[in-house]
Amino acid sequence: MRNQVMFNRGVSTTLMPALLVFLLFFINVDVQARNVVQECAPSSCGNVRNISYPFRLKGEPNNCGDPDYELTCDNNNDTILELNSGRYYVKQISYDRHIIRVADINLSDGNCSLPNKSLLRQDIENDRRFRADLLIGRTSASFVNCSTPIDDPKYRSLPCFATNTSNAYVLYDHQQTLSGDSGLYNSCTFISVVPAVLSNANNPSYETIQKLLQRGFDLGWSVECRNCLRKGKSCSLSEITDPLIFQCDDNWVLETIKNVMLALLRDVVLSLIALSFIARIIVVLLLMSVFLIYKLQNKQKPIIVIDKFLQPGARPRTSSLLNS
Ligand SMILES: *[C@@H]1O[C@H](CO)[C@@H](O)[C@H](O)[C@H]1NC(C)=O
Ligand SMILES: *[C@@H]1O[C@H](CO)[C@@H](O)[C@H](O)[C@H]1NC(C)=O
Ligand SMILES: *[C@@H]1O[C@H](CO)[C@@H](O)[C@H](O)[C@H]1NC(C)=O
Ligand SMILES: *[C@@H]1O[C@H](CO)[C@@H](O)[C@H](O)[C@H]1NC(C)=O
Ligand SMILES: *[C@@H]1O[C@H](CO)[C@@H](O)[C@H](O)[C@H]1NC(C)=O
Ligand SMILES: *[C@@H]1O[C@H](CO)[C@@H](O)[C@H](O)[C@H]1NC(C)=O
Ligand SMILES: *[C@@H]1O[C@H](CO)[C@@H](O)[C@H](O)[C@H]1NC(C)=O
Repeated sequence: MRNQVMFNRGVSTTLMPALLVFLLFFINVDVQARNVVQECAPSSCGNVRNISYPFRLKGEPNNCGDPDYELTCDNNNDTILELNSGRYYVKQISYDRHIIRVADINLSDGNCSLPNKSLLRQDIENDRRFRADLLIGRTSASFVNCSTPIDDPKYRSLPCFATNTSNAYVLYDHQQTLSGDSGLYNSCTFISVVPAVLSNANNPSYETIQKLLQRGFDLGWSVECRNCLRKGKSCSLSEITDPLIFQCDDNWVLETIKNVMLALLRDVVLSLIALSFIARIIVVLLLMSVFLIYKLQNKQKPIIVIDKFLQPGARPRTSSLLNS
């Protein structure tokens, strides 16, 4: 809106077609077609029933769901979501609350295992399709490998990795997400971290943590936010309700850059027009002077020619002209 006003004020309407072409490079044209809710029968894969818009199963007709929210059904009827270039088992999808619950592939069966892939809250925030927001918060389970036994109720030993010389521990934490060795005992090194669902349990046992990790963690999904981010705007939580309500705001950095570019463009176009106007005047003036010079020379020539013929070689032409 602001751009439009700025534009109409600064530029005469005859320039609009040319400027519109330029504008197309700067203003994202929103493709509304993607937002159309597709009429497809819900599909299902294993325990995940009623898969519907925006989610789609790979192999369904192209018009079902949104390609960004494609899931895969594997040979064991497990539903898989690709996230941060890793595969996650889909546990359930809530279409009312706009939440999808997923679990790390190695942790989802509740066996003693390390996660197959580390996943930070930041990794989820980098994915336009999903929201971490309050759903994940800072609740996480960090896996560490220690060369000495650790006697700390926060450190829960993974029995399947206990050896004579080392032990793997998991730390379930509401406050802190470890992503490196800092904050650990000296004998410990960081292995990986996964998001976890919130639990009231204080210093839960390994078995409790295992069950929490088996349940997986929640991701919020919002097609509106995805569309908003795609336009270079920013999507933020506006109301802590169930489902969460997001709002789409202009990204002021991009907005400022766009305005500066448009102003610059307008100046360049105006300068070019002014230049071409001046250039035309110069060309016209040049043509006129050439024409005038030509005209003047043509007026003198006949006199010279006649003069030469009348007095062939007798006296210098100039004096004859002066004398006559
Ligand atoms: C399937 O999901 C739709 C909403 O996407 C809902 O209206 C419908 O009741 C669900 N059906 C079943 C069987 O869960
Ligand atoms: C997967 O589900 C389909 C349909 O429900 C069933 O026919 C098939 O046997 C299942 N496959 C496995 C490996 O469970
Ligand atoms: C994981 O546990 C299930 C039972 O919950 C068992 O059938 C399966 O063999 C276990 N997988 C591994 C890799 O230990
Ligand atoms: C995940 O589980 C598989 C099968 O149990 C195992 O081979 C693999 O090492 C595990 N991944 C990690 C990172 O531990
Ligand atoms: C575990 O992660 C590795 C690399 O990140 C990947 O190649 C492998 O397919 C994953 N395991 C499963 C069962 O998806
Ligand atoms: C922990 O570290 C020791 C020594 O580096 C190694 O042998 C062991 O496999 C590691 N354990 C895990 C679970 O990574
Ligand atoms: C620990 O290691 C020693 C050899 O280094 C071995 O004799 C012993 O059986 C091991 N203990 C266990 C519980 O594995």
